[in-house]
Amino acid sequence: MKFFIDTANLEQIKEAQDLGVLDGVTTNPSLMAKEGITGEENILNHYKAICDIVDGDVSAEVISTNYEEMIKEGEALAKLDDKIVVKVPMIKDGVKAIKYFSTKGIKTNCTLVFSAGQALLAAKAGATYVSPFIGRLDDISTDGLALIDEIRLIYDNYAFDTQILAASVRHSAHILNCAKIGADVMTGPLAAILALLKHPLTDSGLAQFLSDHEKASKK
Ligand code: E4P
Repeated sequence: MKFFIDTANLEQIKEAQDLGVLDGVTTNPSLMAKEGITGEENILNHYKAICDIVDGDVSAEVISTNYEEMIKEGEALAKLDDKIVVKVPMIKDGVKAIKYFSTKGIKTNCTLVFSAGQALLAAKAGATYVSPFIGRLDDISTDGLALIDEIRLIYDNYAFDTQILAASVRHSAHILNCAKIGADVMTGPLAAILALLKHPLTDSGLAQFLSDHEKASKK
């Protein structure tokens, strides 16, 4: 399972990269705005800065919602670095744009996916990744993980190449459950990745080992 970090924060991306478990980054317009990155040139430079840190795919989202503009924007983003994956929303023009990009060999991430039907369309259009937002489904009392399960079944039935990128991950239990179901990738906050490290028995066991060592070395 690939681990992507869902942020535009360079410090957090560096921290995850230094941990040695990072396979890529996803961003979206809200995450870019959260870092105060505005203006076309700054946004493009920020994507380049992310690509310089990480070894792996970096999703950069188009802002346009009509086909021609998405193509223009996506092609400009793809030219920035080979790591760039053009993130396109699940709307009619977005599906057409994904098809176009796939014929041109440009990687895509179909975002804002909330149903198995949308995921099927994204795969048919040739998306590299499909991003079902599990946390946002959980937020409206729907089972986000059940959607990952459904998409896994459909993609396996037809051997679609599109990778299931479980998005809107909120905590480490989401990561584990996505791994059990067989999501190809998960993208989540650094805190959810670091929470996988934690177990109280690890902490108490280590404290015991260190204190026994300390006592023995004083004898
Ligand atoms: C996916 O690529 C999105 O950036 C992201 O996972 C959205 O998550 P949120 O629901 O935490 O905003």
